[in-house]
Amino acid sequence: MSDHILIEKSGGVLTLTMNRPDKKNALTRAMYQSLGDAIDQAAFDKDVRCILIQANGDMFTAGNDLADFAAVNAGEANASEARRGGNPLLAALARAKTPLIAAVNGRAVGVGVTMLLHCDLVYVSEETLLTTPFVNLALVPEAASSITLPSRIGHTRAFAMFVLGEAVDAKKAVDWGIANEAVPLDQLRAKARAAAEAVAARPPAAVTITKALMRDEAAIAARMDEEGVHFAAQLKSPEAKEAFAAFAEKRAPDFGKVA
Ligand code: COA
Repeated sequence: MSDHILIEKSGGVLTLTMNRPDKKNALTRAMYQSLGDAIDQAAFDKDVRCILIQANGDMFTAGNDLADFAAVNAGEANASEARRGGNPLLAALARAKTPLIAAVNGRAVGVGVTMLLHCDLVYVSEETLLTTPFVNLALVPEAASSITLPSRIGHTRAFAMFVLGEAVDAKKAVDWGIANEAVPLDQLRAKARAAAEAVAARPPAAVTITKALMRDEAAIAARMDEEGVHFAAQLKSPEAKEAFAAFAEKRAPDFGKVA
């Protein structure tokens, strides 16, 4: 269990708080495992009617820990071994039975955005910026976002996010159907908590069945597997090596020199 994920249960709501603010809540393997385990276990806990995902610090999450990605690229045994079997958070999101609510405080990058596409209610703060710069990192979409994002916002907008790394602000996130509502930051947690309590108060079987009927779980899982093959290959590519080195060295990548 990761110290960087805080878990609290009250009033039928399981709250998962990303708590690695010094690294902008970049997600490590241990954090994915804690989040995934909590989501999986909630399905068997009658006291949990809803899961609320939020973050401490000045942004939601900067996405996957790039040092972890660089270690896999470099072929470090522990890092490669840890990624075997896929990402435990993504697997848990694909099969989640419990309603998921997100409170997004500011920036969300990469998996910080793709996880929102598995949430049932999403609230963002007014300064939120959503980016999915997978291609800038020589990677490809994950979390089944290659189908969920275009189907939510349209192909051209999704392509601009994936390939050009274009940011989506809070207003667009609401207009395009990624989020329910944008609220001032100081009201964000109260808004999301109230929504979570309202869901928790609804008849649980009807809620669970409604969520299941609204999602094609098999298609999501199949696309995650397909994406995972390409993602794993790209993660070890020379172009990804250059992208990760550029981030660590705080410089722009130069893909012109990659063989
Ligand atoms: N992985 C690992 N460390 C990360 C990180 C990530 N994804 N994102 C930020 N950090 C670390 C930085 O290295 C820095 O660490 P340091 O203080 O030891 O140098 C610290 O968090 C603060 O980040 P910084 O870049 O100074 O914050 P910022 O507010 O100027 O910029 C971001 C925030 C999110 C725009 C920027 O950090 C960023 O672009 N991160 C990478 C995002 C990304 O590409 N994620 C992967 C998506 S698939």
